[in-house]
Amino acid sequence: MIKIQIPATSANLGAGFDALGLALNFYNYVNIEESEGIFIESLDGTEIPTDASNLVYDSARTLYDICGKKLTGLKIQQVNNIPMARGLGSSSACIIAGLVGANQLMGEPLGMDDLVDLAAQMEGHPDNTAPALLGGIVTAVFDGRRVHWVKQEVFTTLKFVAAVPDFELKTDKARACLPDEISHKDAVYNLSRAALFSASLLTGKFENLRTAVHDRLHQPYRMELIPHGREVFDTFYSIGAYGAYLSGAGPTLMAVVDGENEYFCGKLRFALDKMGLQTWEVHELHIDNVGTRII
Ligand code: HSE
Repeated sequence: MIKIQIPATSANLGAGFDALGLALNFYNYVNIEESEGIFIESLDGTEIPTDASNLVYDSARTLYDICGKKLTGLKIQQVNNIPMARGLGSSSACIIAGLVGANQLMGEPLGMDDLVDLAAQMEGHPDNTAPALLGGIVTAVFDGRRVHWVKQEVFTTLKFVAAVPDFELKTDKARACLPDEISHKDAVYNLSRAALFSASLLTGKFENLRTAVHDRLHQPYRMELIPHGREVFDTFYSIGAYGAYLSGAGPTLMAVVDGENEYFCGKLRFALDKMGLQTWEVHELHIDNVGTRII
């Protein structure tokens, strides 16, 4: 049986809508082997589809089809630590698990570039799928067929603290609320900040992050769908975050925090409880520079 570890991801990073994403040390696990028939099991009690509509199965089957290899069935076991529909790349993790698992089972007919392309084709955008596969911070342009990407490893003690709401926000809904067009001025606003984010993260100029995380493409619209979102952002800054942004399509709110700010999570928990948000989870995470691995 092949055992795969897939990291959570945080996409957009503020202004880098559909272009920037990074991998985090919070993992799903998938065991996969060929079988006669479909046998899908959740090992941690998370509810998942156990038929051919299962995303891990579906992406594995797609790769078998592409490679022209007959699939008689798969046995799949899943541990889904990454919360679903929360902006932490849970569906990307399933797609990647299926692709990497199928590729391994068939003797690795596809290379990394092909897997990155296929995953983006399946997901529709590369900013979760590419870092989930590659790790680090990934800058990606998807031309509809191919992903042109750069992965950079990040050696930092920075923490990424996720405030995870107790409700789901599906990407389709979070994309439907975005405007069809934006002004030239807003385009410049975003592209300058997206470039500033990765350059600042990689060179340690963290004081730039507060400016770099602002955007006019998606966050102002999506924040309307997240009750208490703005209050939580204010709290992040009041307890010392360098930057605060909506992780992926949301609803998770992410704070970028100095590694030495040791009481950040405790203070955040206290503040969330005071706001009546006891059911929101807090996760202290770090960048994963490896990406998906066979374990
Ligand atoms: N860039 C995507 C979005 C990430 O914000 O809609 C979610 O998959």
